[in-house]
Amino acid sequence: MTDVEAVRAQLAQARRVCVLTGAGMSAESGIPTFRDAMSGLWSRFDPAQLASEEGFRADPARVWAWYAERKQGVRDAQPNAGHVALADYGRRRPGVLTIVTQNVDDLHQRAGWPQTVRLHGDILADRWLEACPRGLGCAITHAQPGEPPACADCGNLLRPGVVWFGEMLPEDAIDAAERAARDCDVLLVVGTSGAVWPAAGLARVARRAGAKVVIVNPQASEIDGEAHWLLRGTAAEVLPRVLDEG
Ligand code: APR
Repeated sequence: MTDVEAVRAQLAQARRVCVLTGAGMSAESGIPTFRDAMSGLWSRFDPAQLASEEGFRADPARVWAWYAERKQGVRDAQPNAGHVALADYGRRRPGVLTIVTQNVDDLHQRAGWPQTVRLHGDILADRWLEACPRGLGCAITHAQPGEPPACADCGNLLRPGVVWFGEMLPEDAIDAAERAARDCDVLLVVGTSGAVWPAAGLARVARRAGAKVVIVNPQASEIDGEAHWLLRGTAAEVLPRVLDEG
């Protein structure tokens, strides 16, 4: 039996499957990784200048412009065959699939899995930088156009709805991710380097709880040691092979 056949058999019989995705999941949709997004004009900055609250406060217009470019990239991208294979598998097998992503794009959702657990937020969902100082909780549509847009009444700035360096992950998302990792029969890890915690720890959580761990990545990752099967290929190529029927 080949590794692909073995993984297919696991996925066909699993009662609960958790899928953890990272930047490699969206690579074939043309969305650059965080590191690649810092190329060209942006290469003279370091990550904290572009993706932290401190960096935003130091130069809101610069950070806004960087995110504006990345948001456009997300809007222009389409889900790839891997996103589609995951959502189709989930729909065919109700109650089985939980997708947990580190990606801030919406490609799992657009492929048909709106309930995707997002550990690092949503790049398309702006929010206010400060709690409304007047306690009004204005809708973000109240912001006046600008870079970044600001509240006409109090000057509060809009910021992208992603988790920046130094910020906590949304508690409900991390709870849901840990629960899914603990309760699954199979954890499928796709396109993540396994370098960023706590997402990287989910493979060990799952393995210790008795799950089979499958890693899909064309290259080595830092969590390969947790895997029962390493499928060396890309998300768009491997996921349809292990998930599609027939
Ligand atoms: N299919 C599958 N995997 C791929 C593909 C592909 N087509 N192309 C690249 N990869 C793999 C790479 O080999 C690498 O292991 O995807 C991984 C991408 O690693 P990272 O860029 O470190 O992405 P990720 O693991 O998601 O990083 C976690 O760090 O940059 C921050 O907040 C950002 O959410 C991100 C987090």
